[in-house]
Amino acid sequence: MKVVLVNGSPHPQGCTYVALSEVSKSLNANGIETELFTIGQNIKGSCLACGYCKTNGRCVMDDAVNRFIPLAQEADGFVFGSPVHYAAPCGNIMSFLSRLAICGGNYLTNKPAASVVSCRRAGSTAALDVLNKFYPIIGMPMVPSQYWNMVHGAQPQEVLQDAEGLQIMRNLGVKMAWMLKNIQAGKDAGVPAPILDEPHQRTNFIR
Ligand SMILES: Cc1cc2nc3c(=O)[nH]c(=O)nc-3n(C[C@H](O)[C@H](O)[C@H](O)COP(=O)(O)O)c2cc1C
Repeated sequence: MKVVLVNGSPHPQGCTYVALSEVSKSLNANGIETELFTIGQNIKGSCLACGYCKTNGRCVMDDAVNRFIPLAQEADGFVFGSPVHYAAPCGNIMSFLSRLAICGGNYLTNKPAASVVSCRRAGSTAALDVLNKFYPIIGMPMVPSQYWNMVHGAQPQEVLQDAEGLQIMRNLGVKMAWMLKNIQAGKDAGVPAPILDEPHQRTNFIR
């Protein structure tokens, strides 16, 4: 079983990376393979609502979102990490997730997810609230830890001093591994995927 950890920070080895690395080590110690995916600095933009992905299965803007789609198909669980920018997730991860949800959401459904954020001082829970809105609408079970998933630091060395933050990351790894093993045990025992046998309803409020 494999978890992909997505670093949304413009710093490939900054504070968010330290947090994700701690989750990754904990997952590995619990028998789960991991891969780090760095969104990088070249995200082309936010969703254009153009509908290209509906017929082509990929985004019209060819960047990290399209690079990620094969991983979305292959992996069993996901951790999305972001620095806090003005009490919100950074713009890159918002552009990435809003496009991935519509282009590759089908590959993510029923796979466990969690968010982690890194901040110098404040805005972490507000940023988590925004990221954590993606998973229910995609149908991804959300993995808990022992607290809200945040670390504190302006530099990676400071995050390494956040003993509680790092423990939250390790516990997230433990619980993600536990959830993945339970899902696999359910599959092995013949528990079917949760599918509601009805046409999908869309009730708009203006008619
Ligand atoms: C544009 C910008 C906005 C930021 N806004 C906040 C903020 O609202 N609250 C906060 O505590 N830190 C804020 N920070 C600091 C970063 O969240 C913090 O240093 C984070 O750990 C950096 O993670 P990274 O190294 O992975 O990018 C901001 C940094 C930048 C560049």
